Amino acid sequence: MSKLVIDGNKVLNGVITASGAKNSALPIIVASALAEEESLLRNVPHGTDVETICSILSSLGAKVSWDGPGQLRVNGAGLKKSKAPYELVRKMRASFYVAGMLLGRLGEAVVPLPGGCSIGSRPVDFHIKGFEALGADVTLEHGSMKARAKRLTGSKYYVSRASVGATVNTMLAAVLADGTTVLENAAREPEVVDLANLLSAMGAKIRGAGMDVIRIEGVDRLHGTEHEIIPDRIEVGSYLILGAMVGGEVVVENAMGEHLRSVLASLEAIGVKIKESTTAIQVSRPDKLAPLNIVTQQYPGFPTDLQAPFSVLLTQADGVSTVRETIFDGRFKYVDELRRMGADIQVERDTAIITGPAELAGAPVEATDLRGGMALVIGALSAQGRSEIIGLEHIDRGYENLEQKLQNLGASVKRFRANAVRS
Ligand code: EPZ
Repeated sequence: MSKLVIDGNKVLNGVITASGAKNSALPIIVASALAEEESLLRNVPHGTDVETICSILSSLGAKVSWDGPGQLRVNGAGLKKSKAPYELVRKMRASFYVAGMLLGRLGEAVVPLPGGCSIGSRPVDFHIKGFEALGADVTLEHGSMKARAKRLTGSKYYVSRASVGATVNTMLAAVLADGTTVLENAAREPEVVDLANLLSAMGAKIRGAGMDVIRIEGVDRLHGTEHEIIPDRIEVGSYLILGAMVGGEVVVENAMGEHLRSVLASLEAIGVKIKESTTAIQVSRPDKLAPLNIVTQQYPGFPTDLQAPFSVLLTQADGVSTVRETIFDGRFKYVDELRRMGADIQVERDTAIITGPAELAGAPVEATDLRGGMALVIGALSAQGRSEIIGLEHIDRGYENLEQKLQNLGASVKRFRANAVRS
């Protein structure tokens, strides 16, 4: 079992460069296979989730190849299989995006339903409702969704709970449908806008992405293009929170502050000093941190993906803070591990009550999901003494070159890979 060994309580200074957005790259890589030509994608993060989606596309017949750091070539010309492989799809929920693409491209999709997840139940009923709204005939058999349509027909679809995934999947199906689709109550995340920009560059006709009504006029075919993925706002936010906790001065390059307004406002509200330029954001830890009450919301509200990292920061605030999670029903699993490091956090239903400041002490801990895992890394970097973190397969899904980036800030962090030969 690989582990990270961290010696904490060091003041960190320096520059960290954010990678491309995982949650933008995943739908954009799938969308590129909608064309029977090659697209070149830049600033693609090379994490395990991206590797999984590339393997799924290759298994379906598309051509996917890395062409230098962060550069991915995707060509959907060879796409011919409509059945996605269970052993790959089961690894990652976003694999379900291939359903919308296959339905739009081939008129048929057979995709295993994603399992539960360590942050709560994550059904795909809103995605299926979108496909049915476009005229697909959908059945659920033997743990897979089977969707068929000679050609999808544009229509109106009210996206329940402004679901990011359902918005994205319905967009992927609608761009090649016959007629116009109107998505109401659509997700407004920057990653949805990035996807719409990619699709438009491929010849799709999309208006309104970033607002809650997206209008898509179906076209007959799409062509290849070149596209640069936006910076990963959740990675940027994670490192800004780290800087607020253990800076010195930490600068995050390749950062778009406009994608993080609610997080920057929350950091300033607790006393963190922030300096923004067009491409970078600098934070430094203040002498005292004030407590705060946070509620996670759909974009542009406070992002659920930074709930865990921000909660770690609030363990250092002078007083009682509350963090209410409204998006997922099981996103506090990291709290038990954080309490083992000395955090004073009680979880009552959908709210964490955090009393600070609490002296964190290093401990052996286990990551159980991507963002909760990053929260443990941040806690370990602040704690007195040594921590050992296992469950790295979760963290590696969304934080490219993690230990190198942290070492650039002067952190004492080493990865010990599982022994190839059992000792
Ligand atoms: C996307 O997940 C992101 N993943 C998540 O990031 C992010 O936390 C989430 O959006 C919210 O911002 C990717 O983009 C790959 P939703 P998604 O559909 O699409 C329920 C990370 O750490 N729901 O907006 O799954 C769902 O269970 C990941 O990078 C249904 O009930 O989020 C949740 O409670 C974690 N039925 C709520 O809606 C559905 O069909 C919002 O989910 C779909 C969703």
